Amino acid sequence: MASIRQLDPIVASRIAAGEVVERPSSVLRELMDNAIDAKATKISVYIEQGGIKSLTVIDNGSGMSADDLELACKSHATSKVSTLEDLFNLRTLGFRGEALSSISACSRLTINSNGNRITVDNGVQSQVVPGGFERGTSVCMEDLFENIPARKLFLKRPKSEASECKKTFVEKALGFPEVEFLFFSEGELILHYEQSDRKTRAVRIMSQDKSFMPAKVLQMSYKGDNTELLAISSDPSCYKRDRAQIKILVNNRIIDSYQLVQAITSAYSAALPGGAFPYFYLFIDDNPSLVDFNIHPTKRECKIRNQSQIYGAITIMIRQALLKKEYETDEREPASQKPLFEPSKQPEIIAETPPHYGRSTDSSNTTRPARPASSSKPFAPSWFENAKTILAKTEQKRAASEVSTTKIIPEYRYIGQAFNTFLIVELKDSLMFIDQHALHERLLYDEIRAQKDVQRLMVPYSFEVDRSVDDYLLQNSIIYSDYGIELTRKEPLLWEMASIPAACRKNEQEIVSYIQTQTGDIESVQKGLFAIIACHAAIKAGDELDSVTAMQLVRRCFELDRMVCPHGRDFTFSVSKEYLYREVGRIV
Ligand SMILES: Nc1ncnc2c1ncn2[C@@H]1O[C@H](COP(=O)(O)OP(=O)(O)OP(=O)(O)O)[C@@H](O)[C@H]1O
Ligand SMILES: [Mg+2]
Repeated sequence: MASIRQLDPIVASRIAAGEVVERPSSVLRELMDNAIDAKATKISVYIEQGGIKSLTVIDNGSGMSADDLELACKSHATSKVSTLEDLFNLRTLGFRGEALSSISACSRLTINSNGNRITVDNGVQSQVVPGGFERGTSVCMEDLFENIPARKLFLKRPKSEASECKKTFVEKALGFPEVEFLFFSEGELILHYEQSDRKTRAVRIMSQDKSFMPAKVLQMSYKGDNTELLAISSDPSCYKRDRAQIKILVNNRIIDSYQLVQAITSAYSAALPGGAFPYFYLFIDDNPSLVDFNIHPTKRECKIRNQSQIYGAITIMIRQALLKKEYETDEREPASQKPLFEPSKQPEIIAETPPHYGRSTDSSNTTRPARPASSSKPFAPSWFENAKTILAKTEQKRAASEVSTTKIIPEYRYIGQAFNTFLIVELKDSLMFIDQHALHERLLYDEIRAQKDVQRLMVPYSFEVDRSVDDYLLQNSIIYSDYGIELTRKEPLLWEMASIPAACRKNEQEIVSYIQTQTGDIESVQKGLFAIIACHAAIKAGDELDSVTAMQLVRRCFELDRMVCPHGRDFTFSVSKEYLYREVGRIV
């Protein structure tokens, strides 16, 4: 074994820099943090070639003196904390005194501040000289990782790095609405946020998502001893098929927290169909002494000492807001105070084999049906045509092969559709409500499994993946091709999709987003894929159905082994005849 020696300071600083600087967007995050900490009211960002060639942040904040400039890029140099106690009362985004030192170890950094300039070229610092910017600071980073080719190899293509930078920019802008932000790429102004308040900024950012409807915004808040919560969210009729629009900020900083995202999705789930997620920006203002960001160099994780209280507060806040909305729209008693219906058992249907997907559910349990969505349609997908074609095909096949079902189908009468969401069926001793969206989703799920109809794309869809997904696809792209998604690797990290399942036409983007995140076991990847495909082609809550289609759906509902959707939820709800009679003082 080689003998021990102390590392050369430049080598050591480059190794340390690896923790903070992963790609241009991590540099941007640090430089924007510094500008915000300097109390800037206007911050402009300029990137070239996705920030790999150059990335500049200009602010009108306090700036630095010549002496401070001399120190700013040294390791552990900070004006933000001086004792360990300060760490537990943080009011600034920075505290490690490491960012500028790390960035300057792996690029050429030029800082102009309050009339002085300094350059640090890959760890080698120049003298402070007179420079531009009489008030405020401009920090320009050039040629990231030029001297560390092994790390440059891990960067994505400039276009993808630019969108990572844009994402970081937007996340920072979300936390600081009182600051004006501008984002330029290749000299072109891409985004401009005027100074505003939290709600306006949040709605502006949500509206950048094409499917979001600004008219459908809910605002909710909670005040506790140590914590204040404010959430801006979509109305339940406007939702997404992934969690990408759930953002959590703790003391104005975006964090990744699986538990808090869970709190949001489970409190909201009763109002949404399975597999749907809200647009939800949650601002948590917590007592700084209860939050520790000193966990990971990128500061995207934090320990929150009162997390369980916050979890509870999120649940209460969301439920109340949704109930209040129910009052406004329905003027009914909330379900939690008095059940609207007395649940009864589903009609007995003999299930020969349990379904081999989704979690098992007890058919005697009744679940709260999805809330009726407003009659406006959140999406205008081509689902109806797709759905009709698929249903019609099966009907033809059924007739041609004279497939007879072995299920015992109870006597029933289709009564009609309620709230454009439920199909109502009268059985011998009960009324049954069927969630039309979930039922259709389930039927399509079964169709897609059986048919595997494929649509070739006119122009193949190119997309980039990170290294883990690239490796995964090299081994496992057959998972997708098996179901009509043909993937070809064009170059490292770049893939092309040439076909998709027919039921999913026009939803290439969503399939690609899914592929870009999956590295799990084959079964769960397939399950998730089916759920997406079926969900997209399915009839939505809020869609008016003609009675022929509705009756076809009901018949096929009764032919199912078990009435659960591809996500494993029961989608029917029954009210006994006895209960109805009793309510009006009749004897059955
Ligand atoms: N845009 C700026 N305006 C004014 N001062 C700045 C600016 N950028 C950096 N500084 C000064 O340089 C110091 C070092 O910055 P650096 O980002 O390296 O560390 P930090 O912000 O203190 O902590 P962290 O490493 O957690 O970001 C800061 O503490 C601050 O005093
Ligand atoms: Mg900093």
